[in-house]
Amino acid sequence: MSLKKSSPIVVEVDDLNVSFGKKRVVKNVSLTVNSGEIIGVFGISGAGKTTMIRVITCQLKKKYWTGTVKVTNLSAARNKNQSKILGNIGYVPQLEELNLYYDFKPYANIDTFASTYGMDVKKAKDIAENLFTILDIPKDTWSKKLKKMSGGEKKRVSMALGLIHQPAILFLDEPTTGVDAYKRYSILTYLKKLNVQLGTTMFIISHDMECSLVCDKAAIMREGKLLEFGKPADLIASLPSNGVIASFTIEDLNKKKIEEIKDFSPVRNIIRAGNDVIEVLMDNYDENISDLVQHIMNAGIKITSMTKDIATFRRYFQIRIQDEEEKERRNIDHLSESNDMNN
Ligand SMILES: Nc1ncnc2c1ncn2[C@@H]1O[C@H](COP(=O)(O)OP(=O)(O)O)[C@@H](O)[C@H]1O
Ligand SMILES: [Mg+2]
Repeated sequence: MSLKKSSPIVVEVDDLNVSFGKKRVVKNVSLTVNSGEIIGVFGISGAGKTTMIRVITCQLKKKYWTGTVKVTNLSAARNKNQSKILGNIGYVPQLEELNLYYDFKPYANIDTFASTYGMDVKKAKDIAENLFTILDIPKDTWSKKLKKMSGGEKKRVSMALGLIHQPAILFLDEPTTGVDAYKRYSILTYLKKLNVQLGTTMFIISHDMECSLVCDKAAIMREGKLLEFGKPADLIASLPSNGVIASFTIEDLNKKKIEEIKDFSPVRNIIRAGNDVIEVLMDNYDENISDLVQHIMNAGIKITSMTKDIATFRRYFQIRIQDEEEKERRNIDHLSESNDMNN
């Protein structure tokens, strides 16, 4: 019998709250991350992703936050730990302009980084050459000015620079934002390659759900709260009927028709996926699908085509957010009803 050793915990967040003045922008967030994992932090703009990461990476003063935050076993709340933590982490900011010197060549950027981290320049260069090779940054561009590089190359140089001091954890804020759709996947592939070859734990902060493709776990944030934290496949499987979706193309689809379809009681969610397309999630798909079709036809609604699919992570995210919005709306209705009764 072999006991699988679990990887050590590298980040521990317990009941984190962040407030700017009266505005609380991170609310009771707790999560634990093991060494070697790739964590995706997802949420629409303003959800609190960057703020949470700024706490973990010691970029936000203690007066703004409460809770426990440990990074490589060091408490981020203690000032004397901060330089040690910074030595253990790398940060690739949202806009790579922020950590690159555009008039410099990648090589010259390494000198600057080496001196920032008090590293031997020769050692930094060796590490950089290895990283540039893993990242397929063409050798003839290493001594070219950065501003002459393509967007994708700049992104990769920025990623390499975040790793020069060989940190245990790399944080990447929106690494695929502003990258052409067809190159996005290649950025993700490079991150996965670095994760596998170097064993680096990674946090990918993004509003681009495609990033989930390389993530071991996904954290979903909305309005400061952590709604979910788990393996993307497990999250999808937690949907009604394990995420099986009935996709319908409907003639002259409109809101009224969607409401009528929603009236079928096993239906849990309906997503409008196109002008004439809806995706329906329901309880006990196999048992109920033929009755659903009958229900739609009885309502005089014409189905042009129909397929059975499994929810993608993007759909999961939409559904989860939609559920949360509905829950909030119901709470507000409930509150105003009880106010009415009291008045
Ligand atoms: N320094 C700050 N002062 C005041 N409000 C801030 C500050 N930083 C962020 N916020 C607010 O906190 C919320 C979350 O922002 P942010 O963490 O950047 O979201 P995300 O990265 O998910 O887009 C936003 O409403 C933003 O305006
Ligand atoms: Mg952000």
